[in-house]
Amino acid sequence: MSAPWWRTSAFYQIYPRSFRDTSGDGVGDLEGIRRQLDHVAWLGVDAIWLSPFYRSPMADFGYDVADHCDVDPLFGSLEDFDRLLAEAHAHGLRVIIDWVPNHTSDQHRWFQASRSARDDPQRDWYVWRDSPEAAEGQPPNNWVRAFGEGPAWTWDERTAQWYLHLFLPQQPDLDWNNPQVQAAQHDVLRFWLDRGVDGFRADVVHLIGKDPALPDDPPELAGTSRVGFHDEPRTHGLLRDIRATLEGYDGERTMVGEVNLSDTEALVRYYGAGDELPLVFNFVPLHAPWTAEAWRAVIDEIERCYDRPARWPTWVLSNHDEPRHRTRYGGDERIARAAALLLLTLRGTPFLYAGEELGLEDAHVPPHAGVDPGGRDGCRAPIPWTGEPDHGWTSSEPWLPWPPEADHRNAAALRADPDSILHRYRALLAARRASPALREGELSWLHAPADTVAFRRSLGGDERLVAVSFVDEPREVAVPGDREIEVASDGVGDGEPFTGTLAPLQAVLLR
Ligand code: GLC
Repeated sequence: MSAPWWRTSAFYQIYPRSFRDTSGDGVGDLEGIRRQLDHVAWLGVDAIWLSPFYRSPMADFGYDVADHCDVDPLFGSLEDFDRLLAEAHAHGLRVIIDWVPNHTSDQHRWFQASRSARDDPQRDWYVWRDSPEAAEGQPPNNWVRAFGEGPAWTWDERTAQWYLHLFLPQQPDLDWNNPQVQAAQHDVLRFWLDRGVDGFRADVVHLIGKDPALPDDPPELAGTSRVGFHDEPRTHGLLRDIRATLEGYDGERTMVGEVNLSDTEALVRYYGAGDELPLVFNFVPLHAPWTAEAWRAVIDEIERCYDRPARWPTWVLSNHDEPRHRTRYGGDERIARAAALLLLTLRGTPFLYAGEELGLEDAHVPPHAGVDPGGRDGCRAPIPWTGEPDHGWTSSEPWLPWPPEADHRNAAALRADPDSILHRYRALLAARRASPALREGELSWLHAPADTVAFRRSLGGDERLVAVSFVDEPREVAVPGDREIEVASDGVGDGEPFTGTLAPLQAVLLR
């Protein structure tokens, strides 16, 4: 039995606002994505994930959904979506889209109805509560919201109750204890599944189950956003129902859940017994520093916890919520390249974030120019496609400043340079595709000196070795047998015998 496609694919995340603008308003759009599909297919990924493009007042840049089943005019129309989906499929790319189950925009018609009156039939679609009896005027519990400071509750004057929002006040939490909410969100899934999407990225999906008693957070956690520790047993039953909806199609539809827990053991339980999430993001590696010690520990922990067939790791270095990995690791492109080699050779499904294949760093966004309530503007800078003043966009004034060096660090310039990081990503993705060991094989450690990490991937007769140096000086790595460099992160020595010496901050894939 062959592995399902989502285990052997490399995914590429597109943040629509920042990918490419074709309408001249400085914000990327679906047509811009369609026109760049050649780039994505040429790169060699297997699937794309589109961050939200739904109708939204954009308080959280689309993660505040006002209509799950329509495209915001900023991005285009449903027809544009259908065209994009069809062309992506024609390019051999699967498409998953963001699904935001935990909350909606306060402008969503569900919330508009819910807040209109206490006896509105949709009142209990959201989480409304009174102040505690003993504490008039105080929020119902001590939960705080993510982004900025303050309680996770907002007082509604008209109906004189509080509503819950684990994020912005403009993002009220739905009440998933209500079967009508469950049914409505399953309908959203079916709307897009019927349109032909290959699956979903489920936004903060670990938050959907909530104990109706909404108990206070313990004192040691009070003042910390629940997003990082909310781990409620009720969520698992909801995930089994969601999986059943996906399975009701052709067995080929998937979901990757954003579960923001930093405890790997807790996180892997969201795979259930193969009946909950098909894939779960793991951000523990993303938060690890670039040291051999940290990465050995991360990989060990993952090998230990992903110990059952249902559990398959995922790897992410960058996304729209975190500083890009090149920036996080200090800006040295050699490190960004070595990290890419690791990302694409570890056991599990890799997720790339558009622009990392160009070695982009975060844009410098001066505080007064920042627009995101979570301060995440830098990693959302627009992608420079060319060296022209508008960098291939229709407007030279995009919604955020260009990333550093866009005049020469753009897709056209890097494509013309065979030694560029872009060509390294492409070579790695091609090597992955060609090797069953890299796609599906076991991982085992090789003996390696301090400041380096080395492992073997193997499946049947297929085998690859990987060695990564985390230090800015040469290192000797004794690998078993005579090996040839298949892909070196710096492009030096591809196809040549491996001498046993890693150049400073170099990573190599050997066969
Ligand atoms: C997820 C998204 C993030 C968003 C938040 C609230 O963490 O990745 O961008 O702000 O959920 O929806």
